[in-house]
Formats: sequence, C-alpha cells, structure tokens
Amino acid sequence: MRQPLIAGNWKMNTTKDEAIALVKELRPELDIINNTEKLVCPPFISLVAVREALVGSTVKVGAQNMYFEEKGAYTGEISPLMLTGICEYVIIGHSERRQYFREAGETISKKIAAAIRHNIRPILCVGENLGEYEAGQTREVVSDQLKSSLSGVEKGDTLTIAYEPVWAIGTGKAATGKQANETIHLIRTFIAGRFTSRIADNIRILYGGSVTASNIAEFVAQPDIDGALVGGASLKAKEFTGIVKVTSQTRK
Ligand code: PGA
Repeated sequence: MRQPLIAGNWKMNTTKDEAIALVKELRPELDIINNTEKLVCPPFISLVAVREALVGSTVKVGAQNMYFEEKGAYTGEISPLMLTGICEYVIIGHSERRQYFREAGETISKKIAAAIRHNIRPILCVGENLGEYEAGQTREVVSDQLKSSLSGVEKGDTLTIAYEPVWAIGTGKAATGKQANETIHLIRTFIAGRFTSRIADNIRILYGGSVTASNIAEFVAQPDIDGALVGGASLKAKEFTGIVKVTSQTRK
C-alpha cells in the first residue's frame, strides 16, 4: 500500500518570519496524523529556519528547485550538497519553472539524477497547458515530458511524480478526480515500461492544481492518485491541515 503524500509548495511566498509562524501553526495539527506523509516546501531562504522549527516533528521539508552541479561558478544557484541534511524532497520541473525560466527536458533530467545521487527524493512535475488540453493532446504532452525528464535517470525507486495540468494551477478550476486518475494511470503505465512494474506499483503519483480541503477527497479516493501537490491552499494553515485530515480519513 502506498502511503499518501500531501506536499505544500509555498512558491515565492512568506518571509522568514512568516514561514516560521506558518510552520508553528501547522505542526501540532499535522504531527498527530500518521497515515499520511506531510511535506512543506518553503523558499530557499527559509529552509534552515523551517527545518529547525520542525525538529522532532513528522512534517518533512523540501525545496522547490535546485541545480544539478555540486558546486562552482553558477551564480544564484543552490546545489544538492547544500540541501543535504535539510531537505528530504525537492520539486523539479514545476510548470512555473518550465514557463518562466525555460527549464526543459535535459536540465530537468540532470536535476532529477543529481537529486537521486544525493538521496534527496525528487518530485517531478508534468502536465499539459490549456491549449494542449483543449486540443486533446494531454496524453502525448505528458508522455513526452516524462520521456525527456527521465532520459538520464537510471534508478526510479525514490521518484515521486506530480501530475499538474497547467490550466488547473492557481485558477480555482481543478480537474475532476476521474480526469486526473486517467492521466495518472497513464503515467504509472509509462513508469512500468521505463523502469519496472514493481517501481510503478510503489511510487507515488500526486495530483496538483487548485486542490482545497473541499475537493481533496475526490482525488485521494481514486485508485491511482496518492496525494496532492498544493500551492495556494498550502499557505493557509487551516486549509492545509484540512487537506491532510481529509486525506487521512479517506484512506483509513
Ligand atoms: P495551486 O498550485 O494549488 O495554487 O493551484 C499547485 C502547484 O502549482 O503546485
């Protein structure tokens, strides 16, 4: 049985003080839930403070991005070595990084491989945009993204994938559970072919895009959906703890 994972992607929100305040509010509510894995991904600048605020907690810490080299002349970048000991997870290839920072196949694949080498669990994001969705190209787009993002990746065991249709991100217009499950099932089939069916059965595939405490049950009740990557709603303590609680109850 795959344990569900609820991951909060805080994006470029919260100052260091706000990050600490948010995590202090989340911690007591989330620590008592043990059949669901909980993860927060604050901005780089707050990672250490959030890690310290979570000592002894079951809430895990992740980064929103990283570079693939260990060190060197890469101004402004953060390396996997720097994240080691602070983060258990790292989000890679989020659609906002693809869209605003031109991240694509080879770079993403190198980042995933680097994360795995450093024992940081990558969460690879894939998903079609509105035009592609309307043209009925979801299947091709997602398969192409998986193919290129995993091209240099040898070991898939610690991979997590987030299916995030771009048209559902930050729009309040989530996919339906059935729609998301269909694409996520396809992703699992792809992983079985790319790695092994054991890995496909074991890895978690999340849905992301306008997830709230009111719609999460629809997603985690689906057979192939193992949790969610949450943006906007992860910044509100009540909403995020609500999402985790509903997940935990739905999976009991
Ligand atoms: P959203 O973002 O929940 O605000 O739609 C999801 C994401 O981008 O991971």
